[in-house]
Amino acid sequence: MDIMVIGGGGREHAIIKKLKENSNVGRIYALPGNGGIARDAECYPIKAMDFDGIVQFTETHKVDYCVVAPDDPLAGGLVDILQDKGIPCFGPVKDAAIIEGSKAFSKDLMKKYGIPTAEYEVFTDLGEAINYLDTASMPIVVKADGLALGKGVIICKDKHEAKEAVISMMQDKKFGDSGSKVVIEEFLEGPEVSVLAFTDGETVKPMVSSMDHKRAGDYDTGLNTGGMGTIAPNPFYTKKIADECMEKIFLPTIKAMKNEGRTFKGCLYFGLMITANGPKVIEYNCRFGDPETQVVLPLLESDLFEIMQAVTEGRLSDTDVKFSRGSACCVIMASKGYPEKYGKGFEITVDDESVYDNMYVAGAVKAGSKLLTNGGRVLGMTAVAPTLKSAVEEAYKLVDKVHFENEYYRHDIGRRALDCSVL
Ligand code: AMP
Ligand code: GLY
Repeated sequence: MDIMVIGGGGREHAIIKKLKENSNVGRIYALPGNGGIARDAECYPIKAMDFDGIVQFTETHKVDYCVVAPDDPLAGGLVDILQDKGIPCFGPVKDAAIIEGSKAFSKDLMKKYGIPTAEYEVFTDLGEAINYLDTASMPIVVKADGLALGKGVIICKDKHEAKEAVISMMQDKKFGDSGSKVVIEEFLEGPEVSVLAFTDGETVKPMVSSMDHKRAGDYDTGLNTGGMGTIAPNPFYTKKIADECMEKIFLPTIKAMKNEGRTFKGCLYFGLMITANGPKVIEYNCRFGDPETQVVLPLLESDLFEIMQAVTEGRLSDTDVKFSRGSACCVIMASKGYPEKYGKGFEITVDDESVYDNMYVAGAVKAGSKLLTNGGRVLGMTAVAPTLKSAVEEAYKLVDKVHFENEYYRHDIGRRALDCSVL
């Protein structure tokens, strides 16, 4: 079976490494992939949104199965197009991907089906949004409705900040059309947990929980980023909370989507806040998280390709989804200046070749035999160990074996989890 994976980040690299463990998997094509992924897959420079190019590629290369990993092609309907061409896919169709593509849709879905989430209002009129803020209690959260590369969320401590946020989205179009509609919602407090779950639309099988570290600086300071590191499992996600999530959030969400005629098949990402009043949904993503995937999949003991096929074919209930009892930690190595301005083209070197086994490359290009940085988030180093403490230590030892000019990483990935009283 020859598989095509759409996307080109650390998440896609983690998916590809895991798919390679299945002996029925033949060639793996990554579109576009990147210079680091090229060690594990055949990369072709076709962009994830070049649907015509992708379709043509499947015809010339006789692709047997396709994994669509990023949000944009999912929201744009790539799975629908490929399925129409007879290619089985992992990933939701366009009608289901809307669960991430529109925050207003997902909030309304949760309200309709009683799924716990922050209280909210949706606005398409700037004046009405401003009037609402005059009576709302602070802090408050302002979100652009559509996809905004994870940056369309502004947490506002007072009315002045909130009004500025609304104006920047609705009037100044800071996030383009994504901000024509805004969601204004209650500020929730508590530890955050990411839960990725396989679902075929009927059955839902959650993966091991994880914790992202979104801010650029140590001790959660600085700007929000795509994620500077992850650990799994997340100690705040106890068995009791997991049971509550299954009953009140995971199963109701799958049923709600089916009931709406939007059956979701693929990986559904639940971004949760464990509040004093129980777990609540902060966001849904219609895909694997990045860099959550880089800690979750290394802990997966079952076969990823078998699970993916079971999801596509609607037989997840008969398929094992087992995780090891160990822990994993991924530290992202970025280029100094990320998420704002940063340089590119620095050579990446390693102390010994074996570190490539634990490396998930996000932003790098090949130049002859060299690997050069080509993005803000350059790569992630993941360690798996029997305990979280040792996974964190091992991940930092791996980081020490990788070098490039202007490298930057957080030094406290896993600290909050290690301090968690539940441990
Ligand atoms: P999102 O893109 O919706 O995941 O939001 C990005 C980040 O903003 C989340 O990971 C949270 O840390 C934070 N956030 C989003 N919504 C809320 C909320 N209602 N209350 C507090 N923090 C939030
Ligand atoms: N790590 C957050 C995301 O993938 O959206």
